[in-house]
Amino acid sequence: MLELLPPPPTDPLWDLTAEFAADERPERLNLVLGVYRDAAGRTPVMAAVREAEIRLAERSASKEYRGLSGNTAFNRALVEMVLGSEGSGGPAGRAAAVQTVAGSGALRLLADLVCRTRPGTTVWISDPAYVNHRPILEAAGLRVRPYGWVDADGGFDAAGVLRELSGVRRDDVVLLQGCCHNPTGVDPSPQDWAALAELAVRDGWVPFVDLAYHGLGGGLEADLAATRMLAARVPEMLIAVSCSKNFGLYSDRTGCAIVLGASGQAVRHAETTLQNAARTLYSMPPEHGAAVVTTILEDERLSALWRAELDVMRGRIAANRTDLTAHLSALGCEVQARSLARQKGMFSMLPLSAEQMLRLRRQFAIYGTTSGRINIAGIPAHRIPFLAQGIAAVLGTGSGASADAVAAAGADTGDGARARQSPAVSSMP
Ligand SMILES: Cc1ncc(COP(=O)(O)O)c(C=O)c1O
Repeated sequence: MLELLPPPPTDPLWDLTAEFAADERPERLNLVLGVYRDAAGRTPVMAAVREAEIRLAERSASKEYRGLSGNTAFNRALVEMVLGSEGSGGPAGRAAAVQTVAGSGALRLLADLVCRTRPGTTVWISDPAYVNHRPILEAAGLRVRPYGWVDADGGFDAAGVLRELSGVRRDDVVLLQGCCHNPTGVDPSPQDWAALAELAVRDGWVPFVDLAYHGLGGGLEADLAATRMLAARVPEMLIAVSCSKNFGLYSDRTGCAIVLGASGQAVRHAETTLQNAARTLYSMPPEHGAAVVTTILEDERLSALWRAELDVMRGRIAANRTDLTAHLSALGCEVQARSLARQKGMFSMLPLSAEQMLRLRRQFAIYGTTSGRINIAGIPAHRIPFLAQGIAAVLGTGSGASADAVAAAGADTGDGARARQSPAVSSMP
């Protein structure tokens, strides 16, 4: 039977990761995968997570099946985090939530919900989009149409987006990343978000918000503001929440699908539909990550510790961006520096061509995607000059550092760049 299989496509990001793993140059720099790394290049377990895990282990709770919605305390805690408390008269009072296998699982279950409600629905996604948006939506049986995101100067293309989305039909769904847009790092302003909400209300389409980086852009509250504002205005909304990045739970696959509806009955039906969809895919989600998040969010001290750690991560990402911007500017790459300075979150889009990104990889062992995306959170601070010089060299600007000079600046023999960039710490972006 398996002989019949045609050669399948492989995942481009994982292919790049494998290429990086096979690269033996000591100066190599992996900026492909969407993981946070601390100043030493590690992806640490957060202290709040570690403490919650110890508590859970000591409590030695049963591993009995949880139920079709997973951990319901986790679902409540995430709805409260994203939308505010249920009793406040806000949108949380008309929400249902199901624990999922991370953000990807939430995207897929919500896509299944849309498909079970209206087969063949069109979902609009940004162009460029998170690399897995289209595959997940199409795998669920939905149609996908792109709308633009950035303007010619690398900023948010408010006029273009509003114009394109004015063509969206009432039965369509529009996927929006709630903050820290992957891959561009370019977000709408509060005014742009208000205009998008107005359009959704006027034309009746359903916003489908993907939240994967809240807390890593402008702070937790600021990063959730657009989602909350939308939720307060539209009758129906879908929200996919990932705990991979902001809790550092990448491999524990922790997330939540939230549905907002106009009536209690619609919300209950939506929840059961999500449960049914999960039942046919993997039955129930894994408990560990959800138990960790719940333990943190239900405990005032742990919650404060987690928020403080999240702020440190956010600060480091912002400092990396500022530092890279300054180095690029000093090397004469003003345009690139300006566009970088405006971006937010874990990723940045370098305004380099595919060919220039390939040169960065081949000549300098600097790995980003050919679209120009780099993981700002993945740069050890002391490697920023090396990265800036590599970018300047492929642009042919500033000092126009030669490949040898860049490599010499990058050679990191001290305590071993290779160990710090070990592919063993790889995770799905
Ligand atoms: C925009 C966006 N959505 C969703 C996800 C899925 O995250 P996960 O399934 O690891 O929680 C990612 C991961 O990189 C992402 O960038």
